[in-house]
Parts: sequence; structure tokens; C-alpha cells
Amino acid sequence: MSNERGNWGSSVGFVLAAAGSAIGLGNLWKFPYLAGKNGGGAFVIVYLSLIVILGFSLMLGEMAIGRRGKSDAFGSYNNIKKGWGFIGIFGILCCFIIYSYYVVIAGWIVKYIGMFIRGGLTEDPVTTFGNFISSGTSPIIYSFVIVVVTALIVLKGVSGGIEKASKIMMPILFVFMLIIVARSVTLPNAMEGIKYFLKPDFSQITPAVVIAALGQVFFSLSLGMGAMITYGSYLPKDTNLVKSALCIPVLDTLIALLAGLAILPAVFSFGLEPTAGPGLIFITLPKVFASMPMGNLFGIIFFVLVLFAALTSTISLLEVVVSFVVDQMKLDRKKATILVSGLIAAFAIPNSHSFGPLAELKVFFGLNFFDFLGYLTDNILLPMGGLLLCVFVGFIWDKEDIKREITNDGEVAFPFFSVWMIGVKYLGIQLLALILLQAVGVVGS
Ligand code: PFF
Repeated sequence: MSNERGNWGSSVGFVLAAAGSAIGLGNLWKFPYLAGKNGGGAFVIVYLSLIVILGFSLMLGEMAIGRRGKSDAFGSYNNIKKGWGFIGIFGILCCFIIYSYYVVIAGWIVKYIGMFIRGGLTEDPVTTFGNFISSGTSPIIYSFVIVVVTALIVLKGVSGGIEKASKIMMPILFVFMLIIVARSVTLPNAMEGIKYFLKPDFSQITPAVVIAALGQVFFSLSLGMGAMITYGSYLPKDTNLVKSALCIPVLDTLIALLAGLAILPAVFSFGLEPTAGPGLIFITLPKVFASMPMGNLFGIIFFVLVLFAALTSTISLLEVVVSFVVDQMKLDRKKATILVSGLIAAFAIPNSHSFGPLAELKVFFGLNFFDFLGYLTDNILLPMGGLLLCVFVGFIWDKEDIKREITNDGEVAFPFFSVWMIGVKYLGIQLLALILLQAVGVVGS
């Protein structure tokens, strides 16, 4: 049965694909602006601590569920324990929703690559960005480009499509990242930015910073939404899960830190503000490129690397939903991919219009469509999925059975099993409950 579902061709291929899922706009677009807004080093230190405490543990838990359950996110939970598939449904829903807004931002990246190829900014970057995202049809077309490219890769299956694409895009991404960091940290005054990014000011650590960092850990590692379950389900029985679960958070964090080092020193060097929020890479950074020798070339390199990061993530977002449709509704991969991609394209329209004609249309809690979906996934569905994952691993799935799965029937040493279990059961559940309580207003920030 596993052959019909597809398999990874090699462990390296799996690690690159899973790291590709994790490394995305979350690292390159969100992490630097969250750090910029939440006190720089203070945010970074909280983020790193949470990655160590939770990132590895939950990554391992999800991969083990997938490899044991050998099905999509719903089917895997259900195969391990009947009646628990609903946890996977949260994840699948979450991936669908995230994908529908993620494509909008990824589409903007395509537009910016074109702009730098044609010679860079022609007017003030605030005007350029504002006019583009609110222009109605054009950003929608760019988001459709992402939907189509992602679908073409997922159509080709696990090893022939996802793994192959990751093996090409991920190494290029790493090299391009190093080029940009080398350029940024050698600019005049770059040290100011490096200090801001890496020097923690502990007085800036507030509950709001902790909650923002926690949400970011989940989003960035693609946790709590079935992505690692789905990718884990294509793993052979002899893969060392512990090693893979360590590798992916390390790579993901490395890229997030490099992204900070690529962006913040350059921003400081040109005397700009790091607190621009979502506009940081679309407004502040193009200003930096415009003032730098060979700035257009660096602009192209930067946005191509962001595009590759985004694509390896959209692939996994689509794969989670497609594998559910294939496994549970028994459609073939081609039909499932076309069906889901069509629905995503339809949802991308109101998401994109939230920056233009629908900006003022408040859907819920005074938020427009795009902001509401972001709030729903980051503050409710994601922590809920993570919390239920912890409950499942900590209390529902038989301990001995988990141990056998993680250690490949005793072949792989994992002396920290009990510590890991305590972390999942107590820390994981409490921290996630905190985000949920904050989201519904019980805990203030
Ligand atoms: N981890 C991705 C990022 O940091 O951009 C986002 C993501 C991808 C979330 C895939 C969830 C997922 F299933």
C-alpha cells in the first residue's frame, strides 16, 4: 500500500523536502519583521528557547505518527487510534486556509523578481507596493502563477515531484542566502543591525513577545497541521526519525537567523526603521537595494531565494490536503491536485482583494478576510492542532508502541524518551493552552 502512496527516494531527499516545508515565508518574511517589532534580540532569545523546548519534540511526534499511521493526517491518527482522526482534520483545514493566503504573499515575490529584472524601483517603494497590492487583478494573477507551479510539482508525486524540486531549490536557496548575508553584514554600520538582532534586552520580554514567538515556532516548523505527519508517512521503516527531527529545526532556525542577518544590518546601515512589519521586505528592503551598488542583482538574488523558500512550503501545504483527498476520498493524485488547487485559486481572490477592494470589509472581530484567516490559523487552529497532538502523543498513543516507532524497534538509541514525553505532556500542553487562552481573551498580553 505504501508504494501506491509514494515513498521518498532517499533520507537526504526527505530531509530537504521537510526542511523545505519548514523554511518559507515564515523565516524570510515573518521572522525578521517579528524580531524587528518585538525588541530584536529579546524576541530571538525567546524564539530559540522555544525551538529547543518544543520544536524538536513535536517534530519527532508528528513524524512518528505519520510513519506509523502510513496515511494522510486524518488517516494516520485514525489508524493508530480509531476515532482520533479529527485532530488531523484541524491540520488539513489549517493547511488549506494557510495556503489560500500564503499564495498571495508568494505572488508578490514573483512580481518583485520581475521588477528587479526590469531595473528595480521606478518610484517611491511605499507607492509601488501600495499600488500593486491594492490593484485588484494583477496580484491575483501572480498568486495563480504560484498555484499552478505548485500543482505541477505535486502532480508528479512524492519522489518524482516534491523530492526532486526540493533537491534543486534548497541548495540554491542556501547559497543565495549566504551571498546576501555576506553583502549585508559588510555594509557600513552593519554592526548596529547585528547588535539589534542578536543582543537580547531582557526587559523587553513580555507575555506578548512569548506568545508571538510561540506562534512563530509552530508556523515556521510547519507543526500542528499535519505537514510532518504527511511527509513522515512516506518514510521507510529504517529512517532514523530522531536524527531527522533534529536536523529540520536546526536548518529552519539557521535560515531564520541568516534571514535576520541578511535584512536587519542592511536596514540599519541605510538608517531605516526595522519595525516596518509586513512591509519590511517589500518596502524597506527595496529601498536598501536601490541605494546599494549592484542593488538590482542583489534584489533578484534575494527575491529568488524567497520564492524558492515559498514554493517548497506551498508544495507541502498542498500535499497535506491532496494526500487527504487521495487517501480518504480515493481520487487519483491528478484529480485531487487539480480539485484542491482550483479551490485554493478561488479562495486566493478574496485574500488578495483584502489589500484592495475588500480592505474595509470586516468579516469577523473587525478583521478583513486575509487578517481574519491569519488570526484563525495562528491563534486558534494551529495551537489547537498542536495541543491535540501533545494530548495524543502524551496520553492516547500507547507508550511502548511510540517507543518502538521512534527507535525503529530498538535499533536507534533514544535515551531521552522519558524527558521527551514529559516535555510533550506538560510543557507542550501548557504553552499551547496559553496561546489559546490569550486568543480568546482570557489571558491578557
Ligand atoms: N513553515 C512555513 C513557513 O515558515 O513559511 C509555512 C508552512 C508550511 C506552514 C507548510 C505549514 C505547512 F504545512
